[in-house]
Amino acid sequence: MGNSKFPSFTDGCASLLKKHLTKEIWEELQGRRTASGFTISDLIRSGVEQEDSSIGMYAGDAESYDLFAPLLDPVLLDYHGSSGPHPAPDFSLDALPELSREAQENILSTRVRVGRNLAGYPLGPAISSAERREVETRIKEALAHLPDAIQGAYHSLSEMNQTRRQDLVARHLLFKSEDRFLTSAGLMRDWPDARGIFLSRDEAFSVWVNEEDQLRIIAMKKGGDVTAVFRLLTEGVSALSRHLDFLTDPRLGFLTSCPTNLGTAMRASVHMRLTGLATDEAALKVNAEALGLQVRGIHGEHSQSKGGVFDISNRMRLGVTEAEAITHLMRGINHLARMDAEAAPL
Ligand code: ADP
Ligand code: ARG
Repeated sequence: MGNSKFPSFTDGCASLLKKHLTKEIWEELQGRRTASGFTISDLIRSGVEQEDSSIGMYAGDAESYDLFAPLLDPVLLDYHGSSGPHPAPDFSLDALPELSREAQENILSTRVRVGRNLAGYPLGPAISSAERREVETRIKEALAHLPDAIQGAYHSLSEMNQTRRQDLVARHLLFKSEDRFLTSAGLMRDWPDARGIFLSRDEAFSVWVNEEDQLRIIAMKKGGDVTAVFRLLTEGVSALSRHLDFLTDPRLGFLTSCPTNLGTAMRASVHMRLTGLATDEAALKVNAEALGLQVRGIHGEHSQSKGGVFDISNRMRLGVTEAEAITHLMRGINHLARMDAEAAPL
């Protein structure tokens, strides 16, 4: 069933959903339904229920991106500066820039993650509990074939005790178990069933299973060796690609439940001390945005910064290659480090 009424948003709502959902588009999309039963009401539920969303939409399946394109394409263009076509993957390391010494010295840790979903299944918001379990099984089988250097163990969330879970979250290794945006999107159904995390022995390589996307493949290390972290991620992604068929689209690249993650589905981030710029967080966000970067807090999205440390990452994921996105981030980090040095009191 479609929406019976055009959604109303309060004045304070600044989501891309509110900005791009015209009455005409909403009427045009009424009655459309994907093969897994996803409608426009399902697509926009998170943004309607959570008015502080920045985007406010989650797709249920690959077909959502075609059927609801009159709404989604303008949102993609607004967020990524592109609504496709997306270039072929490029994880090459040869042309990456160097990080300046002042940037290196202020980076505490580096993390690069990509989102992936399996071909032949709906995305998380429309998946059934039986399909979600099947997805988990397939991923566990693939993880057993990882090269020895990144081998480790899979930990099911339903079998994990609270202390262990909270410790992994606090150490930035595991997703949180509550998120009202994901709840509204239908992504927390049957929680914690079929969710889990694979951790390599040294914890530098990990895979989140059945959270916002069916896989989040992650490399993370202390310090600012972005190239080394990107190399580790590449190793894991290519090993898993040999055993899993990922959901892709000729126009949109790797498909993810949230439109912000399409394309490369890659977020590369550093935890960086920016003591000089921290005195005016609003200005930092504006400057970072102008550099094509995003500022998050110390515990990721929707969290606060602490002690002048920020999570700085690439904003665009669609219409650029992985190598281009990393290059862009590294140049932006150098720029911010320079600005920070200039802003710091002597
Ligand atoms: P995602 O990166 O998957 O989009 P979040 O922004 O919620 O999601 O981040 C997930 C976790 O990764 C959080 O605990 C966050 O603090 C952590 N994280 C992100 N970047 C870094 C980094 N460079 N160093 C350490 N932890 C990080
Ligand atoms: N749905 C949330 C919003 O619109 C998050 C959007 C981007 N982040 C994400 N984890 N997909 O604000």
